[in-house]
Amino acid sequence: MNPQVLDSFTLICPACRNALRIANCIKEDSGYFIEGFLDCTACHSRYPVIAGVPVILKDMAAWWRSIGSDISANLSCEILEYFAECDSLLSTYLQSHYDGSAAYWNSLKECLDTRLNFSLDMGCATGAYTFELASHSKLAVGMDLNFSLVSAAARIQREQSIRFLRKRSCRHAQVTEYDFDLPTNVFFIVADVLEPPFSAGIFDFVSGLNLLDNVRFPLIMIGQMDALLKTTGLMLLTSPFAWSSELSEPVEWLENEEVLKSVIVGESFPQMELDYRIIREIEHLEWVLPQDDRLKSVYSVYLLLAQKG
Ligand SMILES: C[S@@+](CC[C@H](N)C(=O)[O-])C[C@H]1O[C@@H](n2cnc3c(N)ncnc32)[C@H](O)[C@@H]1O
Repeated sequence: MNPQVLDSFTLICPACRNALRIANCIKEDSGYFIEGFLDCTACHSRYPVIAGVPVILKDMAAWWRSIGSDISANLSCEILEYFAECDSLLSTYLQSHYDGSAAYWNSLKECLDTRLNFSLDMGCATGAYTFELASHSKLAVGMDLNFSLVSAAARIQREQSIRFLRKRSCRHAQVTEYDFDLPTNVFFIVADVLEPPFSAGIFDFVSGLNLLDNVRFPLIMIGQMDALLKTTGLMLLTSPFAWSSELSEPVEWLENEEVLKSVIVGESFPQMELDYRIIREIEHLEWVLPQDDRLKSVYSVYLLLAQKG
């Protein structure tokens, strides 16, 4: 793209119909703008320039889903981060984690009343609970399989801010920015909770929030949490028990709180040798996942805090 074109010719933002301008140039060649961003002077939506071509579409996320994996290899970090911002799952978790229900987060915070050495948040998504663990720990580790969620969490740690496209309605999204003042003694990794890359018995606290019904083998997940905990370590689980045969075979489902409790205290599956004392239970806690301004999923989750040994 020849940037001088924009001196005499106006490109229009498809979201608000105002003028676009060059925001920043990441790569340039012989006066041509190869990679970077245009932004809207009014609503501040951004549009990437990739391989010298501006891509100006209302639904950038849909375009990225259709083509992203073909072109991502040579793109700069900034362009890849821009597409991460378009991820609606990311928008849902950022809102749930950093703009979510105070009652829900306070109940989770109340499970943390001791000083911890190492703590682990399994299935951390965008990391709000990992940061909470960090404020009680020497080091908190957040782990999740989803790269876009974990890399957003790592960016929050580095930059103490995040910018993302918040979905307002079916086709309208708004650039949203959160600023934070969060602890930095946090370490985020992409790893599988069923095969965690840690030595046994090193954590004082392991959480698995709304994760049990998302993994293929929930009993193995509990076994791994147990293996990672020190002898008097604390295990925190929340679950809506929203089992789905797309994620795990029905034979693996730990149907409800009664089944889960009987596993944790060692009544069912004695071969797992679990022996936990239940410290805190909440039968119904509202967990909200916003999708847009008029659509949210609300789950009633069960919370269980238990101590090993
Ligand atoms: C329902 S979300 C809950 C996220 C967060 N704990 C919360 O409560 O807001 C489940 C998370 O677990 C992650 N996940 C699912 N299976 C996983 C696995 N085997 N290993 C690591 N993370 C996993 C997903 O990527 C997702 O971020």
